[in-house]
Amino acid sequence: MRLPAPPRPRFLRPAPPRPGRNGANGRNAAPETQKPTAKDTAVEGAASAIGWLDERTGATPFVRYMLYRKVPKGVNWFYTLGSATLFAFLSQAVTGVFLAMYYEPDPTRAYESASRITNEVFLGELVRGMHRWGATVMIVLIFLHMGRTFFFGAYKYPRELNWVIGVVLLVLTLAMGLTGYLLPFDQRSFWATVVAVNINASGPIVGPYLADFLRAGAEFGPTTIARFYALHMLAIPGLIAALIGAHLYLVVKLGVTAPPWLKAEKKDLLREEI
Ligand code: HEM
Repeated sequence: MRLPAPPRPRFLRPAPPRPGRNGANGRNAAPETQKPTAKDTAVEGAASAIGWLDERTGATPFVRYMLYRKVPKGVNWFYTLGSATLFAFLSQAVTGVFLAMYYEPDPTRAYESASRITNEVFLGELVRGMHRWGATVMIVLIFLHMGRTFFFGAYKYPRELNWVIGVVLLVLTLAMGLTGYLLPFDQRSFWATVVAVNINASGPIVGPYLADFLRAGAEFGPTTIARFYALHMLAIPGLIAALIGAHLYLVVKLGVTAPPWLKAEKKDLLREEI
């Protein structure tokens, strides 16, 4: 079923006849239209593009809900830590795409390809530095965001599921750090990863299986780096992106928690009333 066409912008509607200017008493006169300016044309173009999209997706109510949803009084800078973590993740994704254009996940080529990015590729040192430091920034931000939700009591009913999704996001972010650390394939990254995987192997029940899975065998071998690379640039970021989607869906659906001091005031108020 076709939706009714959106109303025409006012400047395209026929102007009402003006006595004295459009023929006798304004009757039987040709309708006069105002000449649209360049700005009017641009606005109409944008409006009709949005109308075209909206007619096919029905997205307006969703976008309006997202942009105009109510937030509690007293929200402050601490509430931006989740978005800051999201920004860090996006920055990692973008810089990672550029690094993947030059990096070679092969034990004989990995170290050279990483050094080539730093020393020869245009802006390679900057992009590699952003990715390396960005990893640390993301981990710091995710812990601060988790601290904020914990101290503001945002893990309580009805947001427990979002907390659990957050914990999985934290583990996956740490796994990004582990799998990325091996990729430069210098002495430090190699031996640090050997130690980390051995620590994994000492875990109860699943530990040895997890370590074998990560190493792609009982020992570090030629395929280990390819496995770490596949996990680092495909599997884990894909999972993180999907879980961030679920996390933000719940944030929008449930709304954010009011700061605890406001909640405390409200409780006192209730007690007085009772
Ligand atoms: C990639 C990692 C993460 C991203 C991108 C992310 C993003 C966000 C954003 C944008 C919000 C709404 C604004 C805000 O309160 O800051 C939020 C809320 C929330 N996040 Fe995260 N988050 C992440 C990790 C975590 C972790 C590790 C936890 C806890 C273990 C967590 C638990 C929560 C909870 C419970 C809320 C609801 C807060 C409230 O209702 O006030 N998130 N998250």
